[in-house]
Amino acid sequence: MATPQPGIFAQGTRTHRHLEFAIRPGVGADAIRAALAGLRQPAVSAGGANIVLGFNEAVWRMISLDPLPTALVGFPDIEGVPVTQCGLWVWCHGTGDDVLLDVARSVASALAAVATVQQEVTGFVYRDSRDLTGFIDGTENPPVEAAYHVATIPGGSPGAGGSFAITQRWVHRLDDFHALSIDEQEGVIGRTKADSIELPDERKPATAHIARVVIEDDGEELEIYRRSVPYGTVTEQGLLFVAFSADPSRFDRMLRRMFGVADGVHDRLTEFSTPVSGGAWFVPSLEALGDALG
Ligand code: HEM
Repeated sequence: MATPQPGIFAQGTRTHRHLEFAIRPGVGADAIRAALAGLRQPAVSAGGANIVLGFNEAVWRMISLDPLPTALVGFPDIEGVPVTQCGLWVWCHGTGDDVLLDVARSVASALAAVATVQQEVTGFVYRDSRDLTGFIDGTENPPVEAAYHVATIPGGSPGAGGSFAITQRWVHRLDDFHALSIDEQEGVIGRTKADSIELPDERKPATAHIARVVIEDDGEELEIYRRSVPYGTVTEQGLLFVAFSADPSRFDRMLRRMFGVADGVHDRLTEFSTPVSGGAWFVPSLEALGDALG
């Protein structure tokens, strides 16, 4: 069985750095392979951080030697949802800001000949894994063992051990959100604020976040594995939404429901937060990465 990149599942890391890179025009497969091989140098890989590598479809097609997953797709095309797709996503996460800055700088320098940084987000675990709205984010995330199955393409299929991921930077309007009563805030999410207990149906509006993103197919809930982190300064705060799935159509279906594509019902969260970036990635198994990089 192919091995998923372990950083997808590694827990307990409070500092996260997300780098999205645009590939320089005219750069070929060999140059990209050589630059990525540089990420294996001790200065980068022994730095004490997890590193997860994701590729857009074109770049993975260019460098992969393994059969491509059948479902490779781009970011969902939905009105009002921006797509800022570029070539490469590097997610570094670890235990300290100092180490993470060193690692992220080494990554950027290893890739400098072939790619430029298009987006950089430094995220963190906020209190007890809360979003900056104050709500716990991750309550219904599958636990580790189940997460592995939710997130990775099963053995025997092309791309086995790999994962599909999306990254999306959301900018919050926290003052507006916090101006709501706690009761109303709970109605926006669909859970209680203090301890993340699901509201009973009679208290949960149809526009609640969890009412929009919980989708059942033949009685079975479609799951994704989320690794989002808050980010922020005093002038801008938000969430870097990060999710993995063995089946990328789930992202599309959830986002369509959040933005009311079929029924006009919007997730109320979208009144208080706006996506400003969107990227879709294939995160190959360690073996497929090894084959590609030689
Ligand atoms: C501003 C952006 C977002 C914020 C602040 C946010 C926050 C939350 C919170 C607080 C919960 C409830 C606790 C939990 O189960 O984790 C939740 C659940 C969830 N969210 Fe989001 N979320 C955001 C965007 C998204 C997006 C873009 C998707 C899908 C594409 C999504 C999918 C889910 C799913 C699947 C659940 C679990 C629902 C359940 O099984 O009860 N979220 N989110």
